[in-house]
Amino acid sequence: IERDVPTISEAAVTVTKEATILFGSQTGNSQALAKKLANNLQTDNFEITLVSMSDFKPNTLKKIQNLLIVVSTQGEGDPPDNAIQLHEFLSSKRAPKLDQLQYSVLSLGDTSYEKFCQTGKDFDERLEALGANRLAPRIDCDLDYDDAADEWISNVQGKLNELLTGSSSTQAISNLDVGNASEESTYSRKNPFQAEVLENLNLNGRGSNKETRHLELSIEDANLQFEPGDSLGIFPKNDESLVDALIAELGWNAGDQIATKENQAQTLKEALVSYFEITVLSKPLLEKIAPFTSNTQLHDLLKEENVQQLREYLHGRDLLDVAQDFKPWTASASEFVSVLRKIPARLYSIASSQKANPDEVHLTIGTVRYEAHGRDRKGVFSGACAENVEIGTALPVYVHHNPNFKLPQNPETPIIMIGAGTGVAPYRAFLEEREELGTEGKSWLFFGDQHFVTDFLYQTEWQKWLKGGVLTRMDVAFSRDTEQKVYVQHRLKEQAEEIYKWLEDGAVIYICGDEKNMATDVHATLLTIIEDRGSKTSEEAVAYLNELQQQKRYQRDVY
Ligand code: 2AM
Repeated sequence: IERDVPTISEAAVTVTKEATILFGSQTGNSQALAKKLANNLQTDNFEITLVSMSDFKPNTLKKIQNLLIVVSTQGEGDPPDNAIQLHEFLSSKRAPKLDQLQYSVLSLGDTSYEKFCQTGKDFDERLEALGANRLAPRIDCDLDYDDAADEWISNVQGKLNELLTGSSSTQAISNLDVGNASEESTYSRKNPFQAEVLENLNLNGRGSNKETRHLELSIEDANLQFEPGDSLGIFPKNDESLVDALIAELGWNAGDQIATKENQAQTLKEALVSYFEITVLSKPLLEKIAPFTSNTQLHDLLKEENVQQLREYLHGRDLLDVAQDFKPWTASASEFVSVLRKIPARLYSIASSQKANPDEVHLTIGTVRYEAHGRDRKGVFSGACAENVEIGTALPVYVHHNPNFKLPQNPETPIIMIGAGTGVAPYRAFLEEREELGTEGKSWLFFGDQHFVTDFLYQTEWQKWLKGGVLTRMDVAFSRDTEQKVYVQHRLKEQAEEIYKWLEDGAVIYICGDEKNMATDVHATLLTIIEDRGSKTSEEAVAYLNELQQQKRYQRDVY
């Protein structure tokens, strides 16, 4: 891609084709789509301002004519971190009238959550309520968003071009960094690379409550590029015995031919193993399935007044439960599977550095196993990984770039890495990278897990890095070795003075791992540390941490 370098005469002409693109992104999907739209519009000679919602000044809204928003929704309908402030602002009394504005929203989400795409819906509704005009309808995307997002992008592009034809089509003055035209791999989420498994080990010792897999995959000749902090997407296969049970329950024939969106002909069993999602239920799915049964229980469950029962039913059950619970079924196999969602890829933080291992990707995967509603269940990929992903197997993979979890540009900047369990994965990539680069920057690891003897993931590697100076300090919290539980945040608190000093010296702080408990508690502890050591009020501490976030000095990869 060539950068637009305006000549003096071009810059002097008034440019009327302008658009602002805002993204609210947690793991980078919205950001990548916003960038794609920006690139397309630039090709049409638009002057594009592409910014993260957190870097956008809401008081400039009044001066904008064309606004495109790409935003995802977290968990229970919440905005991503970098969208919180703008989301709040637009719902507040301070939000101005925006009748000069034309806009459209692309909304990313997951239909298996009750508040599907809520944040995108909020933005769309608020802008309308403030008097803005919808340029193109909002599109709400499920996990498999590529096609729907492309449709929105071309809609918006078409509408903007249509509206602005006749206006001057001067060469746009770009303030967008489109990056260099490095050779991109042809592999992507839509066209995954088949990566061979080189290694598959259990990192936990005998007697542990946990099983954590260390997986090494070959990406030789794939030309995939990744940086520490990026993730790998893997398309998993469903458990064959679950598929067999489902087919038997519904009285189908495993060998029937079935067509899916991407594969012309395959057997029903192959499609249910490799293509369709059968382990996650949602209200929209049950609504689509309901016409296939005369069983009134399912119809009752979907009634508005039974929302709480439905919530309980959806939790921990899969399609086999549905097949068993709401007989008799009247639909054919092909009708039935046509309402199923494509199995979404699982994302894992990459645990290795490409500079250190150019042809490999390493992952750290916690095995999920539990019992629910009278049946043993397991994570679709993590279960397979523990049981039947053998060396030599090929797995369909793609790289998911995460711009929000990155080593500092300056390799001398100190880093504080906080992680529990598999949350330690990206830090292994960080340190491999720093070792490879021979950086002098200080680093500090906080790691927590249940037991020292069985659960100290990658113990010898951290110790090697400590000895060699790649890792400056390490504090560990083994929660179940002592009477009183000790967590990473307790270790942080013990080191409060030193932590605050590192922050004042410009350190970047990272949190990776469990969101609900660990990340929330660590966040609260950081605020306390800043309050106490910086002699700040709680408001000032919040502002301090927000400022760090703004400067990309507080980054989270939580799940
Ligand atoms: P626990 O399971 O013994 O309670 C990785 O799973 C580690 O994170 C375990 O040691 C686990 O402890 C710990 N953990 C659980 N809840 C946590 C929390 N709220 N904050 C920090 N660590 C937590």
